[in-house]
Amino acid sequence: MSTARVLLFDSGMGGLTVARAVRHELPFAQLVYAADNAAFPFGAWPEDALVRRILAVMAELVDRVHPDLVVIACNTASTIALAQLRDRFKVPFVGTVPAIKPAAAQTKSGIVGVLATPGTVRREYTHGLIQSFAANCRVLLHGAPGLAEMAERKLKGTAVDLDELRAEISPVFVEEQGRRTDIVVLGCTHYPLLSDELARVEPWVVRYIDPAPAIARRVADVLSGSVTCSPSGRVPPHNSVLLTSDRTAAADALPAYARMGFHLPEFLALAAP
Ligand code: DGL
Repeated sequence: MSTARVLLFDSGMGGLTVARAVRHELPFAQLVYAADNAAFPFGAWPEDALVRRILAVMAELVDRVHPDLVVIACNTASTIALAQLRDRFKVPFVGTVPAIKPAAAQTKSGIVGVLATPGTVRREYTHGLIQSFAANCRVLLHGAPGLAEMAERKLKGTAVDLDELRAEISPVFVEEQGRRTDIVVLGCTHYPLLSDELARVEPWVVRYIDPAPAIARRVADVLSGSVTCSPSGRVPPHNSVLLTSDRTAAADALPAYARMGFHLPEFLALAAP
């Protein structure tokens, strides 16, 4: 059996929160992290153009990396392109979609916040999740315009502006008739990167749901049996990062990738259309 090679895909550094969980679950899998950073942020793209972009970039990535499994570590991409990706490519895909189902099961107050990108908030897929799993809850679905960028800036070394963060999250904190929001779904993989700051600005304590550990368990399940994720005397795997920009455009992000264990950058230099 060969050692598992997992490709993780996002628009930027948000998918590193998923990569961290996959590494924890499968320490001996080889992880390749790919960011379509030339097209960041996905949340601002029109749907048709974004699907075309993701399919084109994925064709290039699958061809280079030959992964055993691809994790779409991005809600904005998964909620629009997962079905087409599964149709187009033979490799198995694991997606990331807002954790509305567990949030609805866990809320005590019945008021659930969902923070996501403006793109994810517009998706039929997201509204379908609410209808199917949270029909009995009050769901405050908020497309936060600047949160993903704030998380990127933090990893590149800029301190988070707490007033700006407070304004971005305030629409999901609601108090009515003696009940208030008690669960907030982090519906974008960038947002767990801001967890320390979120705890500092939240108007009251809520539980945040980060889907990364559940995604990592799903990855392990899908891979089990077909490839090995155990040490079996091998040298530890290299964890490389593929970026769609050129080196100059990515220079300020490289130290953050290295800190998260992705030391070997390669540049595809695919300009956004
Ligand atoms: N990390 C992404 C997500 O989970 C998207 C951020 C963006 O490119 O807008 O939705």
